[in-house]
Amino acid sequence: MNKVDKNHLLDDVEMKINQGHFSEAFHALYHGLDSIRRHSSKEDWKQFIAQYRQHAVNSFFLQEPLSRRAFEKPRGYAGDPVMMDFIYDFDKAAPPSYEERKTDISHLLNYEFNLISSGNDAVRERQRTFSSKIDQTAARVTNPYILSVACGHLREVQDSAAFKNKSIGKFVAIDQDQEALSVAAEIIKGFGETIPASVVDIIMNEVPLPQFDFIYSVGVFDYLPDGVAKKLTSELFNLLNPGGRLFIANWLPNTPTIAYMEAALDWWLIYRNKEQMQELIEDIPKENINNVDIFVEKYEVVIFMEIEKAGEVNPSKRKGDIKIETA
Ligand SMILES: C[S@@+](CC[C@H](N)C(=O)[O-])C[C@H]1O[C@@H](n2cnc3c(N)ncnc32)[C@H](O)[C@@H]1O
Repeated sequence: MNKVDKNHLLDDVEMKINQGHFSEAFHALYHGLDSIRRHSSKEDWKQFIAQYRQHAVNSFFLQEPLSRRAFEKPRGYAGDPVMMDFIYDFDKAAPPSYEERKTDISHLLNYEFNLISSGNDAVRERQRTFSSKIDQTAARVTNPYILSVACGHLREVQDSAAFKNKSIGKFVAIDQDQEALSVAAEIIKGFGETIPASVVDIIMNEVPLPQFDFIYSVGVFDYLPDGVAKKLTSELFNLLNPGGRLFIANWLPNTPTIAYMEAALDWWLIYRNKEQMQELIEDIPKENINNVDIFVEKYEVVIFMEIEKAGEVNPSKRKGDIKIETA
């Protein structure tokens, strides 16, 4: 990407807004911020953000509902489950007509953001990947025990075929956010339980839990510093049955959406590459691990790591290893 002149970007974007060219303005801002972040030191980038927050362009784009919720942080952090639902719901509803979008600026900006942002595409792809991993578990193990850590609204469960077929033995969902847990509790009513706890409670062994066939965590490792992330990985691995699998995800560094997230949404994640993901399992004895699979989804924003525990799935529960294609 060409270097963007940071002294002119915001005024150029404002001019486009004043001319009513909202889509062009959003594109210019999104790609311009990405270029500036890539060509700045950390300190210069933070100084630029301070300047951005004072500019009229900032207020204009905060009319976009996802950006506004992330920026205002009503639950104390950006990326709460209500905000995540803005992303998940985007391709579930019929797209609004052009006339509808023109008359409602927040609607229009939300639509544009979802079209521009590979980060939003990747979050939806991540959800589909987790759904399909739940299905693969139910295809591998009879009535599996599944644990979701930092579950949010459990959107990946709602979309899973195994969930619809009721082929999950027990589902445990943990989150520190009681409001999120109320939504999750409705979804897993009848075959699961929710536990209000933080990842630190899990690390400190303060949450009594059974052993699981599949444990996953989506959308929280990106908030955890290395030491905590490593301890949580080890602790969750200990909770697996023999042959069980732990599946986690993290945002990759240097993807284009990060600049807009940091500048406009005040949303600062911890990014990890393949080596940094591998470091999370350093404390697990190698002989306890059967297999490690690390891969990146098609938008190249999210990296996944699946760790299989050594040992065989209990023969009375084993179904074979059926591969289910992701959407
Ligand atoms: C980005 S949301 C992800 C929610 C859901 N898993 C998803 O992928 O849509 C982050 C979730 O992590 C939870 N969370 C954040 N920090 C946590 C912590 N230290 N312990 C437990 N849950 C935490 C939040 O309450 C929130 O539900």
